[in-house]
Formats: sequence, C-alpha cells, structure tokens
Amino acid sequence: MDENNKNTNQEFEDFLDEELDNKFDSDIDELQKTKVDNKRIKKIDQSKKRAAIDSVFDERTVFTLNRLLVNGPLERVKGIISAGKEANVYLGYNLKGEEVAIKIYKIDSNTSKWMRNYIIGDPRFKKIPRNVSKIVFLWASKEFKNLKRAHKVGLSVPNPHFIKNNILIMEYIGFESIPAPLLKDVKKPKDPIELMNELLSFIKNLYHKAKLVHGDLSEFNILYHNQKPVVIDISQAVSIHHPKAETFLARDIKNIFKYFDKLGIETPSPNEFYYKVINTDN
Ligand SMILES: Nc1ncnc2c1ncn2[C@@H]1O[C@H](COP(=O)(O)OP(=O)(O)OP(=O)(O)O)[C@@H](O)[C@H]1O
Ligand SMILES: [Mg+2]
Repeated sequence: MDENNKNTNQEFEDFLDEELDNKFDSDIDELQKTKVDNKRIKKIDQSKKRAAIDSVFDERTVFTLNRLLVNGPLERVKGIISAGKEANVYLGYNLKGEEVAIKIYKIDSNTSKWMRNYIIGDPRFKKIPRNVSKIVFLWASKEFKNLKRAHKVGLSVPNPHFIKNNILIMEYIGFESIPAPLLKDVKKPKDPIELMNELLSFIKNLYHKAKLVHGDLSEFNILYHNQKPVVIDISQAVSIHHPKAETFLARDIKNIFKYFDKLGIETPSPNEFYYKVINTDN
C-alpha cells in the first residue's frame, strides 16, 4: 500500500473513532429525549460496538468506504443499526443530507462457503469465483440486483442506490434516526389481516413479476414502517429457475403462515396458496 493510501486509511479510522466515541452516543441521547419507539435504541456497549466495527472493516473495506465518503455518494456514516454475522448495517447520509442505510458484508471464509450454495444453480451467475472476497462482492451485488428487480416492479423493498464491492447503499426505512422495527418486535400490527394479504401479494408478485423467491422470508426480515411491511435482506433470493426455488418458496410461505397463526389470525391453507403461486400466470 502506498503512503497516500495509508494516510487516507489512518484518517478514516480516526474519523470513525471520533464518530463512534462522540457522535453516536450524543445523537442517541438526543433522540431518546424525543419521541417514537425508545425501546428500539439499544445502548450498545462501547467495546461490543468497537468489535463489530473492527471485524467488518478490513483494510480494503475501509478504503472502499473512504472512497465513497470522499467522492460520494456518502456524506457521512452516523451509527450502527445492526451488527450481524454476515453484515453490519449503518445509518449514513448522502450528499443531499438524506438518510441512507449502508449494508457492509463481512469478508469471511465461513460465510462465503454457504453463499456459494445459493449462487451455484442461479442462471444469472455463470462464473463462481474461488476467492473469498470476490464471492462476498458477488453476494452483495446479488442483493443489489435482487432489490433493483423487486423495486422496479413496484414491490415494497428498500430502493437500492449504489453498490461498490461489499458495500451496499440503499433507501433507509425509518423515521429520522430511528430505524423501522422488525415485524418480530412489533407487538400488535394495526391490521393483521391487511398485513397478511400484503405479504401474500408480495410473495406472489415477487415470483411472477420479479421472477424471484426470497428464500429467507419471515418476521425477522420484514420492517414495519407506517403500518406497512417493507421486505429486506434479499441477498439469498434466487431466480424462480433455480433448482431449489420451490423448496425456498414453500419455506417462505410456511414462515409467514406460522407468524400469522401465532397472532391468532385465520390463514388460508398454505398448500393451496403454494400451488396458487406456482400454477397461476400472474
Ligand atoms: N434499509 C434499511 N433501513 C433500515 N434498517 C435496515 C435496512 N436494512 C437493514 N436494516 C436493519 O439491519 C438489520 C440487518 O439487515 P439484514 O437483515 O439485511 O442483514 P442480515 O443479512 O440479516 O445480517 P445478519 O444475518 O448478519 O444479521 C435488519 O434487521 C434491520 O433492523
Ligand atoms: Mg436479516
């Protein structure tokens, strides 16, 4: 690495440190004084937060993120929304000062192994790289493409803005600095029957209009925003021509029906719904 890059990296790391040490906590405190769902703001202990940042920000990711901050489309990274096994999601701002969600996939050899299974068999991906970071980049671009495809046909998913290597920038779903809650954390959705119908239409339209099956659809991957569902985490979604598409579809349907069952809602027959999806033309 040349001296210039080293400096830029160092500068960026310092910037992040400052962001994390000062801004995150004070922003959160400010918000806690305001409104909405205070429970959504978890006090993340400083060391955990640092560990999450360190594990996702390998040198190359730091470099890529820095480029996005210097050349756009990012203006700043504010704080972490979620630290997960495969990816961390951050709240950031674009050059217009609008909130964006930044999903950064970790370069990790374990996750790249199962990622391969989803990529193999998808006719959209002909060449499968061996290199761990290339698989993760492909995975991130898969989520970007899937989001684009679903968004283009009017489905309720975040609008994807930008992808660079393992960094995906998309529409932020939330109210100011408070991200929308996951459906699993919503005690009582306002109109569960309407919500169920919207989710069943989502499954059907994703299949027929976007020609995709989500593959990990459940209350853990649905945000509840303005009393409407917004489906996220669509990286593992496969083309309806993928050999496992129907298995994934059956699993998605099972999960959604189970969720509404638990809410005490009378659901149609999952089998019937499954056949309706795969046998109708639209
Ligand atoms: N566009 C968005 N706007 C607001 N919050 C988001 C957005 N995308 C993701 N999130 C938040 O980040 C969390 C993790 O996102 P996502 O489900 O896409 O990642 P993941 O692949 O499940 O990560 P992991 O499996 O490693 O936890 C979500 O549960 C949600 O709370
Ligand atoms: Mg998820």
